[in-house]
Amino acid sequence: MDLIIRNARLKGQDNLKDIGVNGDRIVAIRDKIEEKGTTEIDAAGNLVTPPFVDPHIHLDAVLTVGDPQYNMSGTLLEGIEIWSKRKAKLTFDDIKKRAIEAIKWEVAQGTLKIRTHVDVCDPSLVALEAMVEVKNEVKGLADLQIVAFPQEGIVSYPNGKELMRKALEKGADIVGGIPHYEWSREDGIESLDIVFELAKEFDKDIDVHIDETDDDHSRFTEYLASKTLKEGYQGRVTASHTTAMHSYNNAYAFKLIGLLKKAGVNVITNPLDNIALQGRFDTYPKRRGLTRVKELLEAGVNVGIGHDSILDPWYPLGRGNMLQVAFMCLNVTHMTGYNEMLKIFDAITVNSAKIFRLKDYGIREGNRADIVVLNAPSEIEAIRLMAEALYVIKDGKVVANTQPASSTVNGESITFRVSGIYD
Ligand code: FE2
Repeated sequence: MDLIIRNARLKGQDNLKDIGVNGDRIVAIRDKIEEKGTTEIDAAGNLVTPPFVDPHIHLDAVLTVGDPQYNMSGTLLEGIEIWSKRKAKLTFDDIKKRAIEAIKWEVAQGTLKIRTHVDVCDPSLVALEAMVEVKNEVKGLADLQIVAFPQEGIVSYPNGKELMRKALEKGADIVGGIPHYEWSREDGIESLDIVFELAKEFDKDIDVHIDETDDDHSRFTEYLASKTLKEGYQGRVTASHTTAMHSYNNAYAFKLIGLLKKAGVNVITNPLDNIALQGRFDTYPKRRGLTRVKELLEAGVNVGIGHDSILDPWYPLGRGNMLQVAFMCLNVTHMTGYNEMLKIFDAITVNSAKIFRLKDYGIREGNRADIVVLNAPSEIEAIRLMAEALYVIKDGKVVANTQPASSTVNGESITFRVSGIYD
């Protein structure tokens, strides 16, 4: 075999396993593989997991924080103002360089599938063209999906629909939208009709920024779900952010969550940006501004977690680490119950893989050999420690590895791992 990972702890398995890889496929998972591999990795009882999936990021904006100025108020509105200045300076090479850097950060930390929104409210479509080239260039490192994202609206931005169409012709994979940002409620509804029209014409999935506001009257998600059912698009539609759901009255939220389940609409929550940006018009107490992750999951809606921003005008921090995003999510959503923490790990792996509609994802014989060895014995420990990805394997090849940091106290070396609690 080309590669054997020994002593792997797999989700839900008591005994350690050996995993054998030939070419780009997992070919064996056994208690003990007798033969020798061309390459051998000892996982030493650590968790071996399918890769993290980041289903929502804006790679055209990453690493721009402070240019041309820092966001002093930290608000969405100042972020938009700063971005419009930065956007005027975008060049093909500038976008490519920053996007590839951020992709490497994500890969080094175990993320191999990335869905990026790209702003297409720009007659030159330079960001979109650059990202299509990035997607091809990084194929050996990560699999990208590109969303044609109309940051300033489809109906409210001049020629918005034509720019969306052009972006799809030039290689965008997914149809985006932003109905709550359109000038009026009617414009928002019209924009969603256009989203479905284009998705059907190009046979593409849909992923819209939707109801990303604290306004409890922003109710486009309901229309999205209803339209999904009427168009027979179940399983192909994702509602990103849906922060207004936090503020809906409970009766309406209950009805909406049932409708999302019925329509098979995925939801993506973005805890870093939304804990920082929402609730800004509140006095005390201040709303958390995340969608109802716990209730959505309990109702059986598929929920993924996205990174959204890394060092951009809207969120000034971030390092491309999906475990950090999961950590924020479980704290903010009160999902610190034992099984709830496990569900949050699913949200950065299998749930988001479902949003990507990946068919051969997971540590199983016959699947693609996309595998991560984490420096932790379990899912909960991985989140607590924000564990390093010791080895990151894509299509059977080791593409990244990390040496864990070591600490010494009074000359004695210590680790932050505790045996017997979460292993
Ligand atoms: Fe976003």
